[in-house]
Amino acid sequence: MSNPSMPVAPTSWRVEPIGPLVGDVTVRGSKNAVTKHMVAALLGDTPSRVLNCPEIGDIEITAGMLRSLGCEVEVEGSAVSVAPGAMSSGHVPLSYGGLNRIPILLVGPLLHRMGEVLVPLVGGDRIGPRPIDFHVSSLEAMGAEVTMTPEGLHAKGAQLHGARIRLPFPSVGATETVLLTAVLAKGRTLLENAAVEPEVIELALFLQRMGARIELRPDRRFVIEGVDRLQGAEHFLAGDRIEAFSYLVAGLVTGGRVRVRGCVQGRLVTAISTLQRMGAHFEITDEWVAADADRLGHAVVQTDTHPGFMTDWQSPLAVLFTQCEGMSVLHETVYEGRFPYVAALKEMGAEIELFDACLGGRDCRFNEASAVHSAVVRGPTPLHGSEIVVPDIRGGFAYVIAAAAAQGSSVIHDVHHLERGYHHPMEAFSDLGLKIERLAGPSSGA
Ligand code: EPU
Repeated sequence: MSNPSMPVAPTSWRVEPIGPLVGDVTVRGSKNAVTKHMVAALLGDTPSRVLNCPEIGDIEITAGMLRSLGCEVEVEGSAVSVAPGAMSSGHVPLSYGGLNRIPILLVGPLLHRMGEVLVPLVGGDRIGPRPIDFHVSSLEAMGAEVTMTPEGLHAKGAQLHGARIRLPFPSVGATETVLLTAVLAKGRTLLENAAVEPEVIELALFLQRMGARIELRPDRRFVIEGVDRLQGAEHFLAGDRIEAFSYLVAGLVTGGRVRVRGCVQGRLVTAISTLQRMGAHFEITDEWVAADADRLGHAVVQTDTHPGFMTDWQSPLAVLFTQCEGMSVLHETVYEGRFPYVAALKEMGAEIELFDACLGGRDCRFNEASAVHSAVVRGPTPLHGSEIVVPDIRGGFAYVIAAAAAQGSSVIHDVHHLERGYHHPMEAFSDLGLKIERLAGPSSGA
């Protein structure tokens, strides 16, 4: 396990475009589900096993946190086992601060196990402010006493109880906090305006498998009846829909054809219908989804909570827009700061203008803010190779596919962001024919 307090070794890739990317990619379970299942495992009296896990940095970071609490965690290929039995502490070392979103999700389970918790401040990608106020107010509604310090969050509460909670926005993380806390709280919790993303439902089903009593009602409502004990469970994770979409787009943006295995059609409905509207042809079986296109036209797309077009599909789509005919519009309604990657695309030749207005859809909650959250992209525009620093996981993937579609080679720095969230991305791109050479590059220090 890498030590989180050690700086991440800066790595860079030199990407040599070779023309259309063609071939097969197999995705594993999703980054945004696996680590939550590891947290859920803390609630069981017996060990849990999660299968079909991707090999990504986020699992190592989460395993390190759980081990620091006294849990046994084994990562063997695609299987992750968590035995929470010998948990000895409710304090997550502050050196885990700023690495991912998991510390805040640990609070509820750790309160149930230890009665008192200290977790570092959460990190994750720099895609907007990413506050945790919904998590904190939900925990408080269930009886936790929460204090924020400059370093982290301290919470106490040995006897948590059910509550009626309405989230101001259907936050994935806050819904997960409520589920992970309410399952062992005393009495009933009604959660309104909950997130219903497939990864959230997958977590709810895992908790149900552990013995939790969770009902999903219409209109984004969960009803959770607290139980006294939960048992460990086993689950084979469903395929990562962000990776699946991203590789399909990698094929389209280079004029090729990528066939993605491991992610069922049902997780990609909105992605498929959006790309079809633009002119992509799909071939879909129970085993795989493949896309190609003779010609792609412009589109107006608004990101949204599920079942809308997901925010994590936004950056590959922006790159695809640069190669489509006409003016396309992207309206980001989930995160207010998700366009920093655009500056580097413009340096590569993309014609993209950013706006603080709500373009191409209904007004969103960023309408009154000065947040830059809409983009107009003109295509098709030739891109040229460049030297780029990866700002976040999803922006990083967008740069690789832009580099694959460009003329001339590119050097992409800080690719460790990609390795935190994608299963062997370099190998996957190489299998599609892209020439990538790993360099020991300078860090941006960003
Ligand atoms: N929000 C608040 N207060 C809160 C929580 C959220 O204002 O207490 C706001 C956020 O600032 C954001 C919106 O609510 O504007 C939605 O945030 P959400 O809580 O749904 O996001 P998250 O749980 O932090 C997860 C994924 C993201 C994904 C979003 C939306 C993980 C680890 N991350 O984040 O994935 O974009 O849900 O689906 O599950 C990624 O994988 O690259 C990534 C960023």
